[in-house]
Amino acid sequence: MSVTLNVNGVNHTVDADPDTPLLWAIRDHIELTGTKFGCGMALCGACTVHLDGQPVRSCSTPISLAVGKQVTTIEGVQSKAAKAVQDAWTELQVPQCGYCQSGQIMSATALLESNPNPTDDEIDAAMQGNVCRCATYVRIRSAIKTAAKELG
Ligand code: FES
Ligand code: FES
Repeated sequence: MSVTLNVNGVNHTVDADPDTPLLWAIRDHIELTGTKFGCGMALCGACTVHLDGQPVRSCSTPISLAVGKQVTTIEGVQSKAAKAVQDAWTELQVPQCGYCQSGQIMSATALLESNPNPTDDEIDAAMQGNVCRCATYVRIRSAIKTAAKELG
């Protein structure tokens, strides 16, 4: 069946079952491949996108839940917080292999959009679902603080 999804401000009609994971629609139907598949079970955060500004695991979100909402992916995230996060990621050279990083950036951006000056505990709580096999956690936390300073 046809489902219309608004991704990064553009409507896309996707011919897929309503139970199809949003991640498949984004990657296979809409062909935006910055959002990654890691575990497929909401355990790693590699697939994180925003749904009406809230971070969600797109591997475990059926497209039926995204209908009528704004889906934002790493390719389309453009807020002031997103720019501060991306600048800080570049400045501190956060990524190693890079695989987890679009999910990390989406979670960090959502955090700073709702809380521009998070404590260490708040950073840890917001980022705990985003796994990095290269263990870039120290740089991620530093970059979030750098971005928060920029926003402050
Ligand atoms: S691929 Fe979605 S949380 Fe791991
Ligand atoms: S940078 Fe390699 S998994 Fe995070």
